[in-house]
Order: sequence, then structure tokens, then C-alpha cells
Amino acid sequence: MNTDKQNKLQFQVEAGGKLSGKIEVPGDKSMSHRSVMFGAMAHGITEVSGFLEGEDALHTLQAFEQMGVIIERPGAGKLTIHGKGVEALRSPAQPIYHGNAGTGMRLLFGLLAGLRIPATLTGDESLSRRPMSRIVDPIKAMGAQVSTAEHGMPPLTLHGGDQLKGIEYSTPMASAQVKSCILLAGLHAKGKTIVHEPGVTRDHTERMLRGFGVEVQSKGLRVELDGEQQLTATSLHVPGDISSAAFFLVGAAMIPGSTLTINNVGLNPTRRGVVDILRLMGAEIEESNKRETGGELVADLHVTGAQLKGIDVPHELVSLAIDEFPALFVAAASAVGTTVVSGAEELRVKETDRIQVMTDGLRSLGVDITDTPDGARIVGGSIQGGTVDSSGDHRTAMSFAMAALISSGPITVLDCDNVATSFPDFVALAAGSGLRVSESRSG
Ligand code: S3P
Repeated sequence: MNTDKQNKLQFQVEAGGKLSGKIEVPGDKSMSHRSVMFGAMAHGITEVSGFLEGEDALHTLQAFEQMGVIIERPGAGKLTIHGKGVEALRSPAQPIYHGNAGTGMRLLFGLLAGLRIPATLTGDESLSRRPMSRIVDPIKAMGAQVSTAEHGMPPLTLHGGDQLKGIEYSTPMASAQVKSCILLAGLHAKGKTIVHEPGVTRDHTERMLRGFGVEVQSKGLRVELDGEQQLTATSLHVPGDISSAAFFLVGAAMIPGSTLTINNVGLNPTRRGVVDILRLMGAEIEESNKRETGGELVADLHVTGAQLKGIDVPHELVSLAIDEFPALFVAAASAVGTTVVSGAEELRVKETDRIQVMTDGLRSLGVDITDTPDGARIVGGSIQGGTVDSSGDHRTAMSFAMAALISSGPITVLDCDNVATSFPDFVALAAGSGLRVSESRSG
């Protein structure tokens, strides 16, 4: 992350325009992290295509290189991971730096705890403020020796020790990172590990582990696996990230006259909430060429712009669209009527407090928006131009950029360097499909 206040990336976006053409977005971030982790743990060579070469997933890749795994990068989005099994993983000599990546840190914490590999995990300013007791508590309950900074925050240090014991654990919040952390610790623990969740969360860990030959049983909100299982190398393709597609879905859906096709988008049922919420708002989105690759559903999405309408977002869709709310707030600002988001308190502990950052930014653009502890109430209408601060959050930065499609004046978005964590070519792709965006450095 660029911490020099004088030299931060910013987006300048002219008002108006519409999105059109055929695009593909970069590989899914959640799956990219997992592909490196599981390939590195497996026995044999794992070939990955569609890997997201964004900073977050690259930090995970570097973590395994630090632990002695050979990973070749034979071409764009391609990895050849030479897995020699978990026995070959070495304790890293230096702390592992995860940058902005909560997924990297939380999943690796469980994985290394289960393997009893001593390590210290660190991150950037944002990650260092994110809550970690949610993973530290269950992992300690499994028998790991752990120390943390104050209030359970990073750096997190694992001290090795005795083999962990499987656990039956009910997570207090719907979180795929917490579920995955516990399952990965359970993979090398003694006995069974069972996780019960209060709501549906993304299930990429379960699906991908099965692809690596691990037995995982899921039923409703319960997931279970036996400890002491080994992974076998495989080949896998990572589809386009629906969370990155979301900015374009919203951008095209809210402007009548737009027609945009986004090919090769991952449409896992636990991730497709943004499509279903936009449809409830009146968006025209067609899914075609539906197929399955590596246990994951993929489709091409075709969006035709329309006037959206405000809705009460159904609670059951919230966790299925949790990363897409910054973009959905912009869709709500364009809609006729009021949109109410509730049950989304997890948005407050993402890379930033996304409820606060989106409320402050949209309000400064003239939107009638009120935040609540677990969401917001957004009255659609006109948006004016202005300068908004993304607060260093990739998803708020890209959402504010799309807001210029419906604004009456230009929008400048500040602090955009972290767009590179998930979407390195965002500006080029957005400009190529009709957003009047350019980038510069403050100085
Ligand atoms: C992720 C899970 C989600 C999501 C994050 C990626 C994952 O967080 O917000 O961007 O890859 O497991 P939760 O742990 O809150 O589900």
C-alpha cells in the first residue's frame, strides 16, 4: 500500500456516459487465495489458470514462497505450484506480510495453526485494525498457542506446540473467513471439526478442498470434516470475480441505453446476491452459456440498462452480496424510491467501515442517505459532482467512480491505490467500456 499522502492514486471521472461492449473481469480473489494455499499443501503439481494477479492474492503466493514452495508463473494468470505436501513447508524466517488481505491472513492463520508451523502474520494499516478474535478464539480452543497485539489485533503469532484437537463450533457471525480458518485448522487436527453458521457464506473452501481430494460434508448451515487428511494436486480454472463484475453490472444496469456483456463470471450460489438484488431493483440481467468448471458455476452476463427502483433488500440476500454493497449503494442512489439495507453490520469491519465511507461520500455528492448500525436508507435521486474519499478501500473507490455515470458534474475519487489489491486494470477496462475515467497521482 502506498502510505505517502502526497503521492496517492486518484481517479478523475467525467460525468455521464454509458457502458457497452464485451468484457472479462480478473479472476476471483477468494478462489485465487485458496488455489495457492491448497496447491502448496498438496502432493504433486497443481496448475492454476485465471489466477488474480492482484496484490492481495500475490501476498498469499509470496507467503508460500517464504515457506519454501516453488511456484512458477508461466504466463498471465497461470501458476504451476510444485506441492511437496505439508511436511515440506518451512517455518518462515521473517513475518508474513499480507498487505490489505483479510482472507490471506485469516485463512493462513488456521492453516498454519493446524500444521503447528511457528509464524507471525502482519498486514497494512487497515488489516492491522481488523477484528481477529473471531479466528483467534476458536483456534485457541483447538489447542493452539497464539499471541496477538492488543484487543486480539494483528500481528498474530503462532508458537507451534501440540497437535490441535477438532472442534464443534458455532460462529457468532456469518463469515466465510472464520469458517474457512477453522476448517483449515481442522484439516490437520485430531478428530472431527464441525462448524455451524448463523447464515449462508461463500463455500469456495469446501468446493475447492473436494477438488483436492479432501472429504468435506456440508448440510444446510453445518460443515464437517475429519482431521489428518491429505491433499492431492489438481488443475483448476479460476473464473472472473463477481465482486469485480459488480461495478460494471451496476454501471450498466442503472443507465438506460447501456448494453454490456461480461463473460466468464463465477456465479456460485453463495456469491450471486448482487445479480438477484439488482433484478429486484428492476435490472435486466441475462445469464447465458452456464457451465461448471472445477466445481464452480460460471456464466456470461448480459446487462441492459433500465431505470432502477428502490427496494428493501431481503435479509437472506445480504451475506450473498456482502462485498457488493458499496456498488449497490450507488445503484440505490440512481433508483426511483428508497432502498433500505439492514442486517449488514459486517460491512463495518471490512477493509474500511463501508457503511460510513459510502454514506459520507454519497452524502457529499448530494445523495439523501442515512446510515444505521447495520445498513443504510438511501433515497434515489440526482447526484452532483465533487470529491470523495475512498479511504483506501478498493471497493468504495471503484463504486464512487461508477457514480459519475449518474452525476451532473465530474467526480474525483481520492486514495485509490488499493484498487490494485483486487482489480489491477480497472481504469483501462472501465475506460474501454465507456466510463470517462482517468487516473493521476496527487502531489
Ligand atoms: C471472503 C469472505 C468474505 C468477503 C471477503 C472474502 C473469503 O468475508 O467479505 O472479501 O474469501 O472467504 P467474510 O469472512 O465476512 O464472509
